[in-house]
Amino acid sequence: MFNNKEVLVTGGLGFIGSNLCIELVRQGARVTIIDNMLPRQGGNLFNIRDIEGEAAVNISDVRNQLSMNHLVQGKDYIFHLAGQVNHVDSMKNPLQDLEINCRGTLVLLEALRHHNRDAKVIFAGTRGEYGSSVSLPVDEDHPTNPKGVYAVTNLTAEKLVLVYDDVFKVKGACLRITNTYGPRHQMLHDEYGVFNWFIRKAMDNDEIPVMGDGRILRDFLFVEDLVSSLLKVASTEEAYGKVFNVGTGVPVSFFDLAEKIVAIAGSGRTKFTEFTQERKEVEPGDYYADITRIKKVTGWGPVVPLDEGIAKTIEFYRQFRKEYW
Ligand SMILES: NC(=O)c1ccc[n+]([C@@H]2O[C@H](COP(=O)([O-])OP(=O)(O)OC[C@H]3O[C@@H](n4cnc5c(N)ncnc54)[C@H](O)[C@@H]3O)[C@@H](O)[C@H]2O)c1
Repeated sequence: MFNNKEVLVTGGLGFIGSNLCIELVRQGARVTIIDNMLPRQGGNLFNIRDIEGEAAVNISDVRNQLSMNHLVQGKDYIFHLAGQVNHVDSMKNPLQDLEINCRGTLVLLEALRHHNRDAKVIFAGTRGEYGSSVSLPVDEDHPTNPKGVYAVTNLTAEKLVLVYDDVFKVKGACLRITNTYGPRHQMLHDEYGVFNWFIRKAMDNDEIPVMGDGRILRDFLFVEDLVSSLLKVASTEEAYGKVFNVGTGVPVSFFDLAEKIVAIAGSGRTKFTEFTQERKEVEPGDYYADITRIKKVTGWGPVVPLDEGIAKTIEFYRQFRKEYW
């Protein structure tokens, strides 16, 4: 499907982007990456070591209209994964979040409108767009009441993609992605990507900080499953103009997750801590996805069980720890 296709991946040096690029190259795609290596986020050249020399890398910013006008030309698919992803930073510096997540998306869409309306864009939004769940599992018709700036800007970016699909016929499909974990995630701080932070703490034989009573439920997705969903959505004609949840649909509490990680790593221990004020403000409570729509429209479903995903993640960081912390 992607053999010989021209593919642009924004945020391609980050966690999801790099895993996606590796799979795209494996499938024979000609991959171009654009990433600005935003400090404190997941951009890391080591992430694409396995495809060194096989993907073109542009250290540039999606807000740069001239770069984007040039880079979208001749592309068949654009996976838009560049974003400000740090919830805490989005509350401390909301204007940067708005700039990157909304203006950056709009710059990309304008580049497509004027320079390549044949490309298809797949946008990586977040389950945070729903805010606190009023019913579970959460399907795509659930109300959207985001709790933080990051989730508001993601929802806005999603709407922009859908408007450009509808009005300007720039084909776009949007994902609302659940908490994702796995190899190639930043491991330097816990401000986003709490699952991977638990893995680091266990591997350091340290305390894993479980906030509150640890009973909050989440839906944890292994990054290989997310990559396959991105590719499946991109290659399904009926997916464009639509929004899809991506998750496992299986709820797991933070406490059970921490205990599982300790058991599989063979080190670390769970420790209950109070919510910090900044966490409390943006914590939406229980979430797990209803993935009926994506299954029905694209045939995609997750295949990696939690235990296996944890084991694979630990194995990766055991091998490459010095590149991540
Ligand atoms: N990881 C998750 O659990 C999750 C869940 C829901 C949604 N998402 C979304 O998926 C996307 C990728 O997230 P990730 O987890 O891979 O994070 P990440 O931090 O590892 O990757 C994001 C990448 O975008 C780059 N970037 C940021 N601003 C940029 C800009 N202005 N121009 C060019 N590059 C820029 C960063 O340098 C980084 O490499 C984000 O849009 C995020 O909101 C992730």
